Amino acid sequence: MPQFSLMEIIEKVDELKGYFSSSLRDAGDIDRLRELESEVLSKKGSIASLNKQLGSMDQDLRQAAGAVINDARAQMRADYEATLARLLAAARERELEAEKLDLSEIVSGSDFHAGRFHLISKTRSELEDIFIGMGFAVEEGPEAETDWHNFEALNIPPYHPARAGQDSFYLKYGEPESMLLRTHTSPVQIRVMTRQEPPIYAVMPGRVYRRDTADARHTPVFHQIEGLVVDKGITFANLAGAIETFTKAIFGPNIVSRLRPGYFPFTEPSAEFEVTCAICEGAGCRTCSNTGWIELGGCGMVDPNVFGAVGIDPEVWTGFAFGFGIDRLAQMRYAISDMRVFLDNDVRFLRQF
Ligand code: PHE
Repeated sequence: MPQFSLMEIIEKVDELKGYFSSSLRDAGDIDRLRELESEVLSKKGSIASLNKQLGSMDQDLRQAAGAVINDARAQMRADYEATLARLLAAARERELEAEKLDLSEIVSGSDFHAGRFHLISKTRSELEDIFIGMGFAVEEGPEAETDWHNFEALNIPPYHPARAGQDSFYLKYGEPESMLLRTHTSPVQIRVMTRQEPPIYAVMPGRVYRRDTADARHTPVFHQIEGLVVDKGITFANLAGAIETFTKAIFGPNIVSRLRPGYFPFTEPSAEFEVTCAICEGAGCRTCSNTGWIELGGCGMVDPNVFGAVGIDPEVWTGFAFGFGIDRLAQMRYAISDMRVFLDNDVRFLRQF
């Protein structure tokens, strides 16, 4: 074994330190770092083999050389640990970055708009609030209805001419023409009366369907709200009063209601109800064809045949019902000339309400 001098050991150690620190600097990943550790610092590494040289040296030189080697090893170990910690932290950082879920939505300044309800939904909930204030409960029923609920129980037998006025979308379900998309909200009256004993004070808002071609005043899907009161001693005056109260609540003090004789199979007597034209406040304009009045819906006293269909004794109970279009009401309240804008989803329209 060759004999090393102290100078030679110091040189070798310096060389090794230089190599180690530049290699640490260049090590791009943890695998390379670990390789370097085993090459230089492990039991079979360069430091260990330098240590072996000490055996052949004189006692006092050996101590000095050993100290040089130990210092160098301690420093290289510390550098190694620091570099390892840095690379591990960077790797963890990358991992977290890759797993990160960005759940935020980027909205740039002027594009920001809060969402809002559609005018029809807003009108519907305003109506619900008004009727709740008048002591009515809010009820709902299915949009796919049986012929019995939509027509028969409402005193509209097969071949009754009233069916022609409500061109229906029939469903391919069960017996032919036994199920349809409801043409009005009146079938919900039937559902409420079959499940609940009077007294009944309820309104029933919802979507209805008719085979109409869309034009300025019709859409094949629209909304109605139905009202039903069944109690002892209910009269036509109560009906007129309820309609007047609701008219004032939704349109304000300048608008009044009136009833004209009408016909519905499920009410007797029946009436159409009209309100002062909200556009001209009764003076007469194009919207109301110069009459000062706008027809809003139908109403009447519940026909005894309807009570018969649902098993309510007409000798004990009387009641009234009314129904009107929510879309139609919103249309006249805001002077919207063409109803099709309700379905267009044009934000320039929707944002105005
Ligand atoms: N269901 C009727 C329609 O759609 C409106 C109405 C409801 C009339 C209740 C009288 C009583 O035309």
